[in-house]
Amino acid sequence: MTPSLVEPVTADRLLPLNARQQLPPLVLMFGNNKGGTGKSLTVVQIAAALARAGFYVLVVDMDPQGNATRRLGIEQDPEEPIAGTPEVIAANTKGAGEGATYQCGWTVSDDDLTPSAEAKLIDVIPSRPDLINRETETGLPGAALRLKKALSGEWINKYDVVLIDSQPDLGHLVQLSIVAADQVVLVTDAMRDGVEAAFRVDDYVTNYGEDLGNPNVHVSGVVVNRWRRTSEGKFYVENWLKPRFGDRLWNLRKTELQEEIVDGKKQTKEEELQAAWIPEWARLSEADGAGVSLTRWTDARGRETLGIFDTIVERYLAPMLQERARA
Ligand SMILES: Nc1ncnc2c1ncn2[C@@H]1O[C@H](COP(=O)(O)OP(=O)(O)OP(=O)(O)O)[C@@H](O)[C@H]1O
Ligand SMILES: [Mg+2]
Repeated sequence: MTPSLVEPVTADRLLPLNARQQLPPLVLMFGNNKGGTGKSLTVVQIAAALARAGFYVLVVDMDPQGNATRRLGIEQDPEEPIAGTPEVIAANTKGAGEGATYQCGWTVSDDDLTPSAEAKLIDVIPSRPDLINRETETGLPGAALRLKKALSGEWINKYDVVLIDSQPDLGHLVQLSIVAADQVVLVTDAMRDGVEAAFRVDDYVTNYGEDLGNPNVHVSGVVVNRWRRTSEGKFYVENWLKPRFGDRLWNLRKTELQEEIVDGKKQTKEEELQAAWIPEWARLSEADGAGVSLTRWTDARGRETLGIFDTIVERYLAPMLQERARA
């Protein structure tokens, strides 16, 4: 493992936001009705990119698998688990989230165990497998409101953004997250099952948001992940995702005009610097596996991977946050 970049938080890269004026945070839930599309990866890497941009983030792990929890450097000891979403949901009280909030466990390096620059701006409400037991409460009056209640109160206003990771179904835990969210972001691959499952979540949010007591919740973004430039991938992006979601597809493409001499004549051509969609790159699963920040890798691929998620923040999330701060 290479040493950490230990980059300072680059708050100066973005316009002065100052969302930390006691505004309620923007609450985004990440979902898909298919497993393995990269919901947890996207939540973790967007949390990191938001932190690099100077935003204060709370990640709420609503998946009993606890993948986001572990990838953010918090290892649950089954013998002595720390409180997290299982307790927060069981509590059924306003502000219950505050007592189960921990700093992201990312460190500067394997030798220097002080919190990394990103970790200082990422807090986590961790999960555990027994979060699934909360499913039994689904029929109780007001059960769907429990996460929203837990994330209420003055304390939550110190965060700019809350990111909720979810499991790949449409059951009670996912409903709790939809009720607590301002907006939903879908994470899909560009293959039939993933795309259809993303459509199901979109339909679910549209059809049941009001019934769940959250009439304004809507799908505001769609992340295409595991991109491999295959004709199948292009087919599902062009014929399924673009017609349905249009501008809600988060397009990350970056290009540069290059000059070249062809037959003695100067010509300009567009060079792609970054693909529109998140590529399938081993570096991403490697970081997930190790439970460390992508900033630990200082090579060119490391900078490219960071750039993908920085683009999501710069193009889509920072403008949303600035808009809210102005409103
Ligand atoms: N773009 C990518 N490139 C390489 N590996 C990826 C990419 N996206 C996801 N992965 C890897 O694929 C696996 C599944 O991703 P992840 O766990 O984030 O998906 P998920 O949608 O959260 O799954 P689940 O539905 O089980 O919660 C993980 O090992 C992750 O590191
Ligand atoms: Mg997951």
